[in-house]
Amino acid sequence: MRLVVTNINLGLWAAAYIKEKISAFSPTPEKPFVLGLPTGGTVVDMYANLRLFHKAGLLDFKNVVTFNMDEYAGLPHDHPQSYHSYMRRHLFDEVNLPPENTHILNGEAPDPAAECAAFEAAIARAGGIDLFVGGVGRNGHIAFNEPGSAFNTRTRQVELTPSTIQANARFFFNDENRVPKTALSVGIGTVTDAKEVLFLASGDKKAQAVARVMQPGQDINCPLTALKLHPHATLLADPQACSQLTNPAREKLAEQMAQSPNATHWMLKTEEL
Ligand code: GLP
Repeated sequence: MRLVVTNINLGLWAAAYIKEKISAFSPTPEKPFVLGLPTGGTVVDMYANLRLFHKAGLLDFKNVVTFNMDEYAGLPHDHPQSYHSYMRRHLFDEVNLPPENTHILNGEAPDPAAECAAFEAAIARAGGIDLFVGGVGRNGHIAFNEPGSAFNTRTRQVELTPSTIQANARFFFNDENRVPKTALSVGIGTVTDAKEVLFLASGDKKAQAVARVMQPGQDINCPLTALKLHPHATLLADPQACSQLTNPAREKLAEQMAQSPNATHWMLKTEEL
């Protein structure tokens, strides 16, 4: 896994990366680009930049198929904090993604297990995910795979931890009681099956998770560390999210930043630490 650290707006960096990947792929109706998508505060800027690229005629979503990572259980689609609403607001209503190409788990499905199995089947039918983009929870969760989730998990119903409920209360009038307690989420195995993964971590609240991933080995209590088993994984972080790095990562990053202070980004590979 490579850690890319940048002072540039993470959303701009990520959107430019996605744009390049889609154009290099030259998607067609027969062979669309399959993109895994996240929600959350970190990626709001990424969506803003994707919309700008689209409006400037630089990014065409016609032959893109999307799969979202997760959805709260029990929230109606039109609830302002459902991930359905989030995606409409930040992307779907603003670009030329054909609605039939978008997939989000139905948090109100009467049979959640069947809903999750159908989602996995749809990913398989689409030929797998080309690029899975994600955010990172404060406790190192990816999608809604909380600490302790096995690395081979598939799409399923999950319970949110008190730490996630507390973190996400800011979207529910700061009232933890309003935050759904369960969600439907792709599994860690669903994420790492993608051909490529790109995760974003910004701010000091993510520093502990970023520090853990840059230490040796994997840790079931930090799901983000599963990305280290992936051959083509990038964790994109700002300097604040790297503020708790331990050595040797801390020293190596500091060295690079001192050597080329004006670089657009600095990079560390976990396998070289
Ligand atoms: C939620 C989502 C995760 C996301 C995380 C981080 O819990 N299910 O997929 O990565 O939030 O969110 P934020 O970017 O708001 O910190």
